[in-house]
Amino acid sequence: MAGKSRSPEESRYPEVYAAWTADPAAFWAEAAQAIAWAKPADRVFDPQSGVFGRWFAGAEVNACHNAVDRHVAGGRGDQAAILYDSPVTGTKRRISYAELQDEVAMLAGVLRDLGVARGDRVVLYMPMVPEALFGMLACARLGAVHSVVFGGFAAKELAARIEDATPKVVMAASCGIEPGRTVAYKPLLDEACRLSQHKPDACLILQRPQARADLVEGRDRDWAAAVAAAREAGRRAECVPVAATDPLYVLYTSGTTGKPKGVVRDTGGYLVALAWSMPNLYGIRPGEVYWCASDVGWVVGHSYIVYGPLLHGCTTVLYEGKPVGTPDAGAFWRVIAETGAVALFTAPTALRAVKKEDPEAALMRGHDLSRFRTLFLAGERADPDTVAWAERILGVPVVDHWWQTETGWPIAANPVGLGLLPVKHGSPTVPMPGYDVQVLDEGGKPVPAEQMGTIAIKLPLPPGCLPTLWQQDERFRESYLATFPGYYNTSDAGFLDPDGYVYVMGRTDDIINVAGHRLSTGGMEEVLASHPAVAECAVIGVRDSLKGEAPCGFVVLKAGSARAPDEIERELVALVRERIGPVAAFKIALTVGRLPKTRSGKILRGTMKKIADGEPWTTPPTIDDPLILEEIGEALRARGLG
Ligand code: COA
Ligand code: AMP
Repeated sequence: MAGKSRSPEESRYPEVYAAWTADPAAFWAEAAQAIAWAKPADRVFDPQSGVFGRWFAGAEVNACHNAVDRHVAGGRGDQAAILYDSPVTGTKRRISYAELQDEVAMLAGVLRDLGVARGDRVVLYMPMVPEALFGMLACARLGAVHSVVFGGFAAKELAARIEDATPKVVMAASCGIEPGRTVAYKPLLDEACRLSQHKPDACLILQRPQARADLVEGRDRDWAAAVAAAREAGRRAECVPVAATDPLYVLYTSGTTGKPKGVVRDTGGYLVALAWSMPNLYGIRPGEVYWCASDVGWVVGHSYIVYGPLLHGCTTVLYEGKPVGTPDAGAFWRVIAETGAVALFTAPTALRAVKKEDPEAALMRGHDLSRFRTLFLAGERADPDTVAWAERILGVPVVDHWWQTETGWPIAANPVGLGLLPVKHGSPTVPMPGYDVQVLDEGGKPVPAEQMGTIAIKLPLPPGCLPTLWQQDERFRESYLATFPGYYNTSDAGFLDPDGYVYVMGRTDDIINVAGHRLSTGGMEEVLASHPAVAECAVIGVRDSLKGEAPCGFVVLKAGSARAPDEIERELVALVRERIGPVAAFKIALTVGRLPKTRSGKILRGTMKKIADGEPWTTPPTIDDPLILEEIGEALRARGLG
């Protein structure tokens, strides 16, 4: 809120950023003091190893020790570590740090007995239940690498991740719960195991009462029974120190093709970056309640439901519900009041959903929000209307911040803990220490302020950011480092203003952002093209007032197809849901006679998007037949779009 922000001179940001610029190694060495290392680093940054260098080379550390055991030893045993609030099941649970330590140590014992050791991968396919956190932390305890797959992905997507990560064990729940339906995960897991060339040795299945799963003999184990047996036998596992450069997790994210990218997160740098961000960026003190209403399947969930708050000795809120409909648009305010959360981190789309149902926030009444200090937004561009609305109804600062799965923590933010800078709606504010953000033209030259270009980060990336893609150094180089030598290409377009504020306006590639979820249009096109009646296709993201963008597929049917186009369109919608998952939110397939292309055959997706969004557009001079654009407009108008 403008009234609470300070002048640049009052914020410590300029001096802190300058300190980082002057001596990055000294800056991160100091930040590293927040972490309990088993062995300190030989070098804060080793430019010779890895693709662009590695952070905290030579150090040894355990993430679970830092997130859990250290706090129990330090007197936080009785403090709540997790407050689980699940309106979809009518359940609440308080888990203290001591209880968390016990649960995680036992579960790690179970994993160890299943053969999981340092460096092995474990895939988790879990809804927002405490056991998902226990599972991640149990892997970290053993030095194993977890890879969490979001529950809204279909069997084929899960299979692609199992195939790439080659896990020894998969941990899954029998079901997830969406408003109005129970999503049985187990049949999806079974199908994924069938589709994948790689087969896990074992699957540990958490039976939820809402839908119990049949267990496959020889492969599946009952989670609760296994933990009970480990407890009975006293088979806890202790923390195994790993190299700071060892991966803590691999998290798959959409690339421009259907093949997801396995973003590697190294252990030491990540812990340091998160530990720095909690007080300085989020302005949170140990012992406070911090709520990130994302999902453990996304990077935001990894960093700010699990590791960030726990590292910092906070209480993290684990919310299994939606912003609206579970049961109403007052859910956020109820949870803030009941848990005493001082901060909430969510996506703008969630606020738009609340605003649509309860524009005057009448459902906030009766909830005590006096402890609530800041609202954080990320995942998609925070549109100024939504930010202004949130400021008005909450009366606290609303902080937009920008990051990516690849970076693991915010690239640009308004650092609350250092003193808020003046808020400019539409901008996630300024680069965080560690990030030298520049806007480049196509030739890789920095452009003047206010001019649009591709946003790039000068190498090296700071601690916490991906050192590479899982077992694919070359793909990492090609995807991120090759376009602009010496820089990491964010694939986001935007500009800097004269005060150095960053504006992030959209992607430069084929990725779209639907309800704060990152999706590949290329991946959807691969699915549409696999339909026997489809000759060619193009998927674009069209503007959506709730979800930001919604995917829209244009298909040209094969000549001589005798079937009704609307029947095929329905099949295509079902096919994307089946192959990618409900999270793709693919609801519109439009049959057209031809796709607009340049004379060299490139589909004019940008112009199609402008037509669909009702924006002014011009006929590109290179188009082979301008009339096709009129046809696209007609097809959209027939569906109430454009
Ligand atoms: N497991 C299974 N299915 C899931 C799922 C999960 N974990 N998460 C979402 N889905 C399903 C939904 O049920 C929906 O299915 P439907 O097509 O049958 O309705 C579909 O995937 C699309 O979900 P979503 O895009 O989330 O839309 P929605 O209409 O269910 O909800 C919002 C809209 C705005 C309330 C919701 O998107 C939201 O809360 N978004 C916030 C996103 C967020 O926090 N992102 C993290 C980045 S910070
Ligand atoms: P993900 O990897 O799923 O976190 O998605 C990252 C992408 O989401 C970024 O590359 C941006 O395109 C978009 N994004 C995330 N946060 C913001 C933000 N605050 N403003 C604008 N775009 C954002």
